[in-house]
Amino acid sequence: MTLSAISFSPETAARQFLPVSDPDDSMPILSVRDLTRLYGPEKGCQNVSFDLYPGEVLGIVGESGSGKSTLLAALSGRFAPSGGTVRYCQTSGEWLDIYATSEARRRQLFRTEWGFVEQNPRDGLRMGVSAGANIGERLMAQGARHYGDLRAAGLQWLSHVEIDPARLDDFPRAFSGGMQQRLQIARNLVSSPRLLFMDEPTGGLDVSVQARLLDLLRGLTREFSLSVILVTHDLAVARLLADRLMVMRRSRVVESGLADQILDDPQHPYTQLLVSSILQT
Ligand SMILES: Nc1ncnc2c1ncn2[C@@H]1O[C@H](COP(=O)(O)OP(=O)(O)OP(=O)(O)O)[C@@H](O)[C@H]1O
Ligand SMILES: [Mg+2]
Repeated sequence: MTLSAISFSPETAARQFLPVSDPDDSMPILSVRDLTRLYGPEKGCQNVSFDLYPGEVLGIVGESGSGKSTLLAALSGRFAPSGGTVRYCQTSGEWLDIYATSEARRRQLFRTEWGFVEQNPRDGLRMGVSAGANIGERLMAQGARHYGDLRAAGLQWLSHVEIDPARLDDFPRAFSGGMQQRLQIARNLVSSPRLLFMDEPTGGLDVSVQARLLDLLRGLTREFSLSVILVTHDLAVARLLADRLMVMRRSRVVESGLADQILDDPQHPYTQLLVSSILQT
């Protein structure tokens, strides 16, 4: 079953997070059809279809190896699928077929309207430059040149992600893992992206650090009306952040729908197993 097949009113989710006057909240921001990328039988993702609406957080859950990261990479323009389409509704209202457009346009989207939070912050940060430079980079890619403005944005975003602004000139390697992850989030959000991809953003962090980061992410996604696609194998993270869920098993989406419904009343035997195994631990 695809997400478009379930009874769900996107307006409900959109209204919760968006100003009522937003003209685009009835149009999807991302429309995905039959997306397929396989490395071998049932290895990767196949025939994935869904629409993502403005302000929505979609969680992709499933066991290790089920294809979550492969799907996220194909969704976010990182590598071409072997079949299917990913279409993005631009701010102008025009649709852009991500894999039919030029590499230059894709890269431009990456630096501006889209963000990607890596599981390992070292992969998403430039470790050889200061925290402030990490935050300023995307603004510079958008044409900002004024040193004072870049610095002010750096200070503002450090405080948004609860890092002491006095650390602006420090290098990321002097930060703890949780701080690096928050810096990576600031680096992505500074350019006001409309769509954010995250692959296990709290994996590898201590439980107490995880909880604070999740609170922060929840606040930021709501405050900035972000559309988010979030990969996690942790159903507690999914429950806290996601409006809707897709459950993957062996490269296929086996169940999808509202997060609360899926977690409280899973229909597919595999989802039932996932949910019950979490409850027992
Ligand atoms: N570059 C690759 N070459 C060959 N096989 C790959 C490649 N990347 C992933 N795979 C295989 O595709 C399947 C799905 O992998 P993927 O990384 O998408 O899973 P995942 O759900 O993200 O798992 P995890 O929770 O462990 O991160 C796995 O069997 C994996 O071994
Ligand atoms: Mg993965």
